[in-house]
Amino acid sequence: MRTVFLNGEFMPADRARISPLDRGFIFGDGVYEVIPVYGGRLFRLAEHLERLKHSLAGVRMTPPCADERLAAILTELVARHDEPDQSVYLQITRGVAPRDHAFPRDTAPTVFAMSNPLLPVSAEIHERGVAAVTLDDIRWEYCHLKTTSLLPNVLLRQQAIDAGAAEAILVRRGEVSEGAASNLFIVLDGILITPPKGPRLLPGITRDLILEIAQHHAIRYREAAVTPSDLRRAQEVWLTSSTREILPVTRLDGQAVGGGRPGALWTRMIRLYQDYKRAFKGGNERFRESG
Ligand code: PDD
Repeated sequence: MRTVFLNGEFMPADRARISPLDRGFIFGDGVYEVIPVYGGRLFRLAEHLERLKHSLAGVRMTPPCADERLAAILTELVARHDEPDQSVYLQITRGVAPRDHAFPRDTAPTVFAMSNPLLPVSAEIHERGVAAVTLDDIRWEYCHLKTTSLLPNVLLRQQAIDAGAAEAILVRRGEVSEGAASNLFIVLDGILITPPKGPRLLPGITRDLILEIAQHHAIRYREAAVTPSDLRRAQEVWLTSSTREILPVTRLDGQAVGGGRPGALWTRMIRLYQDYKRAFKGGNERFRESG
C-alpha cells in the first residue's frame, strides 16, 4: 500500500478520507502540481513551489504553510517509497464547507499529496514519436493557473485518444497554445520556437528547462506566437511535460511531421535533457560553468 499525505498526516492510501463537501470535489476549487523525482530527489522543486504560489494567488487562496514545510512534506513522502524515480502529486483545495459558490470564511484548506512510480517513456515512442491532433481550445482564459478544474483538458485528451493520437494540440483565436497536458515546441527553419507565456498556457517547468538548455548550448530559440500554418510547416513538433519529458510528434492530423521520424534537434535535446538529469541525480542541479 502506498503512503499518502493528507492534512498533516502520512497514512496508507486506503485510509485517506475526504469529505464530499470538499470544494475540490464539489467545484474543482483547487490547484495542484506534478513534480518528477529522479534518483530520490525532487526535480526543480523550487520552480514547482513558485508556480504553486502563483496558482494559489491566482485563485485567491492563501498558501497553507511556508514553502519549507511543503518541501519537507514532499521530501518525506518520497523517502517513504522505494522507487528512485517517482511522480509526486500535490493538491490544495479551498477546504470543506457547505456548498455555496462564494468563498467560505475561515475554512482550512485541504492539503493532499501522493507519489507514484515515474515510468520512463518507452524506447519505441522515442524511436517512432507520437501522433497528435489539433483541436479548438475550449478551456477558460486562465490557463496559466494549474487548477484542478480539468474537465476541458480531460475531454480534449480523450478526443485525441479517440482519434488514435496521444495528445491534443490546442488552437485559440488563430494561435497554437499548448497540449491538453503539455507545452508545445516547434522547429521552424532551424529555429526552436515555443509560444510565449501568458494566460493561454501553463508556464511549464519542463518548457523553461528546455529553454535554459537551449541557451546554455547556443541552440537558437524564440518565444513567439505559433500559428496553425507554422505548425503544419514545422520540421519538428515536440510536446513537453514533467512526466513525459520531451515527446517528438511525428504525425499531426494524419500527416507526417518532417520526415515522419523524430528530428535531429529533438535527438540532440533529449540527450542534453538526460545529461542534465544525470548531473542532477549526482547532486549538481545547475549547469557547470565549464558545461
Ligand atoms: N501537466 N500544460 C498543461 C495544460 C499541463 O497540464 C502540463 C503538465 C504542462 C507541462 O508542465 P510541466 O512541464 O510543468 O509538467 C503544460 C501535468 C504533468 C499533469 O497535469 O499531469
